[in-house]
Amino acid sequence: MIFGATAPEALPHEGVDTEVDASDCQATARPEHIQLADTPQIAATTPFKVEVEEGKSYFWCACGKSSRQPFCDGSHKDTALSRLKWTAEATKAVFFCGCKQTAHAPMCDGSHKGL
Ligand code: FES
Repeated sequence: MIFGATAPEALPHEGVDTEVDASDCQATARPEHIQLADTPQIAATTPFKVEVEEGKSYFWCACGKSSRQPFCDGSHKDTALSRLKWTAEATKAVFFCGCKQTAHAPMCDGSHKGL
């Protein structure tokens, strides 16, 4: 259970040195035929119960690759997916989706039962 977890001010891939050598770009350029993954990875087959705080924003991992589930750690950078910002309207326990199949992101809608 995660209490009061919030997104970091800057994600690991954000706010870092953005200056790159042109030769680095050529060496790491993605071939046009390679598509970024747009299907989320199942992070857990049960939801994550989290005590959220009214007015606080949380950044839910939509790709399933984060090691800080259910929250984003920047691991989505090699996917076509991104985090989802959600702000708590009340201080209470909520259930964030862990399987990443929910139709009511970021909250669990029971989709994990069909996995
Ligand atoms: S790590 Fe999964 S959305 Fe950011």
